[in-house]
Amino acid sequence: DIPIFTTVKEYRVWREEAFYAGKDVGFVPTMGALHDGHLSLVKRSLAANDLTVVSIFVNPAQFAPHEDLATYPRTLPQDLAHLSALTVPAPSSRDVLRKTSAVFIPPVHEMYPSGISQDVASQQGTFVEVKGLGQQMEGRSRPTFFRGVATVVIKLFNIIQPSNAYFGQKDIQQALLLRRMVSDLLLPHPTPNHLHIIPTARDPATGLALSSRNAYLGPSELRLAPFLYVALKAAATAWDSGATKADSVTSALHVLEDARRLGKEEHIEVRIDYLEFNDPETFAVLPDAATKGMRGKATVLSGAVFVGRTRLIDNLVLGEE
Ligand code: PAJ
Repeated sequence: DIPIFTTVKEYRVWREEAFYAGKDVGFVPTMGALHDGHLSLVKRSLAANDLTVVSIFVNPAQFAPHEDLATYPRTLPQDLAHLSALTVPAPSSRDVLRKTSAVFIPPVHEMYPSGISQDVASQQGTFVEVKGLGQQMEGRSRPTFFRGVATVVIKLFNIIQPSNAYFGQKDIQQALLLRRMVSDLLLPHPTPNHLHIIPTARDPATGLALSSRNAYLGPSELRLAPFLYVALKAAATAWDSGATKADSVTSALHVLEDARRLGKEEHIEVRIDYLEFNDPETFAVLPDAATKGMRGKATVLSGAVFVGRTRLIDNLVLGEE
């Protein structure tokens, strides 16, 4: 029962009405397969904006040719049911319940009028690259990922015209890079301050960060997946108690070594892609000898591991002194 728009043209008619009615529009971009993490973003938008728009678009440009574009989970009927069931009381009157106002579900050619190839060398048309922030951390393992993300998000902002936009801390580098993008491109809306970063929603029992890709995990893999969070917490505890970066990373690696051994018994490979401390503004890698006491400012501790064939990411933002 939520209005669904599939073309830019139809959506713009709706957006213009909202504009003349003086309504704020909150925006939550997603690739679907919605879980409680996505829904926590939608709740924040519902609470703070008159209207909320959710987009569902599996963006080919952010998948490398060898990645999982074809198999990425697509669960549209359930996604719409989740959104329909989600209501939040309006701030003005607890009796008024707000729910998602519109869902934008464009076909690929609507978003990429010049076409889109996953092979960067043969792409045509216009792309957005945030130089200096896209090649570290996630970008080291996925060199064309953030170019695809930045390109689709600027397109979505141009279509949706949001007053506020909501992103998850789960993908911290994505959110921080997009803040830089809207600042560099002088977007009138959303400004960096209107791009909100919402804490990571986790499985209450294990702490595993919720992710659409968790659907790929079999039962034994699901038991191994929470080790990434446990490892990050071990490193954070060491860091907070004054250990150097190198020693903090080592304590996380010990935890992941346990996971690797457990996995081996079940013939599941647990492989670390990276685990690193980075500066949240420049994404520069902290020197091995760095300690929390020396820094006096926030640090992003992030990691990626493969559990079987599934790549999982997580991070903690470690506070200032
Ligand atoms: P997707 O992975 O579907 O995530 C959509 C939004 O939900 C992102 O902002 C992501 O950080 C947030 N999210 C995912 N898991 C979360 C969790 N456990 N807790 C809190 N937030 C969570 O990220 C993308 O899609 C795409 O790159 C997109 C921005 C839509 C561009 O294509």
